[in-house]
Amino acid sequence: MKMIKIKKFLLLWPFLYSAQSYADPLEVLHWWTESGEFEAQAILDEALKKQDITWENFAIVGSGGGSALRVLQMRALSANPPDVAQIKGPDIGEWAQMGMLKEVDSIIGETAWHQYIPEIVKNTIRYEDSYMALPLNIHRVNWLWLNKAIFDELNLVPPTTWEGFFEVADKIQQAGYIALAHGSTSWQDSLLFESVALSLLGAEKYKQAFVQFDENVLASQQMIDVFEQFKRLKKYTGNDMRGKNWVVASKMISDKKAGMLFMGDWSKGMWHAEGKAAMKDYLCVEVPGTHDVFSYNIDSFVFFKKLNSASVNVNTQTFAKTILSKDFQRDFNIQKGSMPVRTDMDMTDFDACTQKAYQDFNRSDLVPSLSQNIATTSYLQSEISKIISYYFKNDDMTAKQAVRQLALAIRAVNK
Ligand code: GAL
Repeated sequence: MKMIKIKKFLLLWPFLYSAQSYADPLEVLHWWTESGEFEAQAILDEALKKQDITWENFAIVGSGGGSALRVLQMRALSANPPDVAQIKGPDIGEWAQMGMLKEVDSIIGETAWHQYIPEIVKNTIRYEDSYMALPLNIHRVNWLWLNKAIFDELNLVPPTTWEGFFEVADKIQQAGYIALAHGSTSWQDSLLFESVALSLLGAEKYKQAFVQFDENVLASQQMIDVFEQFKRLKKYTGNDMRGKNWVVASKMISDKKAGMLFMGDWSKGMWHAEGKAAMKDYLCVEVPGTHDVFSYNIDSFVFFKKLNSASVNVNTQTFAKTILSKDFQRDFNIQKGSMPVRTDMDMTDFDACTQKAYQDFNRSDLVPSLSQNIATTSYLQSEISKIISYYFKNDDMTAKQAVRQLALAIRAVNK
């Protein structure tokens, strides 16, 4: 008897849960909790509030989103997903395939947005023939950031080649600064690896390896060279950064403790929040050897299906209108460090680094970032990251062994 009651309740509760009215808060799962991210999220919160949408923060601390995605899986398994979640790249397709997401075709496909959103973004948010997510921004990942004061003081020229990079790194180290700021979560190791891979392999082979998983490239001598060069960077990271996230590493640049940092431009969001300015306090150059490449990371939100809830549709429309508006795209992205997801923006108010990214986007080879789960799903990426990170942190694995393990892991997951 008791069992029947529970079952009845379980059958009924999705309807109860989904009886959401327009004024109900929209529960949004995300991981924008760090400096820069937090302020950007507050701009979103404020913009939605003006449209009578209350954003209920379901923020999971943990940069890069690993923890947030685990929590989301638990919530989804217990049939209690949030209304909206920060999901990006191929993960969108994984969730869509399970039938859990609402499509947003009527918003992206059938309105004017269609012509303002770049093809690469549309491809990223599309699953089969439908758009399944709303894009917010485009982050460039292949940046090398430099502390301007250190470069001025030591009379250094921003490096554009690896040879130049190592030369500059030695000089910074000799002067008593840390040459390379580097936090040590596994995705940060992956980002460092990706920077070297992109540069040494070039855009085509990078995609063959990490998007198409071509074993001829994955297990090649060139990939061994990538691992070796990646390891050469370790001695420049100097300090013990165990367990430290990207904010700690970025802060070492703004505090003039370190000379250089490989990181996506969300670091710039943090420096903006600190009141630091591009070209005055820090400089941006592409990762050496990637002048013609733009590795991208696109933040997006998905909407979970909530049964029979017409009100959620209203919210979705308004939500989209808000985040895709020019004003929001300007205010949010200036704070987030990223560039707008629209091609028709006036970029005057943006800093020089974002203005450059916006121009480069149109003339570069666009490649999806591996470390940011855009090249592949977060699951496969985390398997890849474990190997990359282990190799970087420990000295008992050769580059050849790392390459073999990488190829095997990818084959096993893709089976
Ligand atoms: C990425 C996200 C960015 C950024 C970064 C650090 O995954 O796409 O927006 O905030 O994590 O948390």
